[in-house]
Amino acid sequence: MQSKQVEKALNEQINEELYSAYAYLAMAAEADKLGLPGFVNWFKVQYAEELAHADRFFNFVLERDGTIELSAIGRPEIGEETALSLFEKALAHEQHITQLIFRLKDLARSESDHATDVFLEWFVKEQVEEEASTRAVIDQLKMVAGDPNGLFMIDRELAARKVEPAA
Ligand code: FEO
Repeated sequence: MQSKQVEKALNEQINEELYSAYAYLAMAAEADKLGLPGFVNWFKVQYAEELAHADRFFNFVLERDGTIELSAIGRPEIGEETALSLFEKALAHEQHITQLIFRLKDLARSESDHATDVFLEWFVKEQVEEEASTRAVIDQLKMVAGDPNGLFMIDRELAARKVEPAA
């Protein structure tokens, strides 16, 4: 049995992951306004990955005989953006999620909840990858500094990203 505190935190994380999906969907819409189909694709793939993250937490809570409590998903704060500001927002968001995963892990450990602690290992690694891949695009965008040819090349690269099958 999971402690009520861990269960509540896992439910909150489901909401965070769904919010992440929603935020990436908003970023995809903004990228479309900028006429960058490759960026739209990248954010849509990220959207799908976040839905899969929420599903992972959902299934784990049920597997542990817990109770799912879904709550309202907030409105993403995406305004008029540039290609660079979209990715900077994405990175800031992923850094926030990393902190939440670390806090969850601390909580699981403080409650001697080894099952949740082990379950969260996958997310710790995933966050390292997500931050790194987002940072890599920021570096590329800074390198081309708004040059349309460079942006076109990055857009082509981002168009190739595909949803990876669940591990
Ligand atoms: Fe589910 Fe991008 O963290």
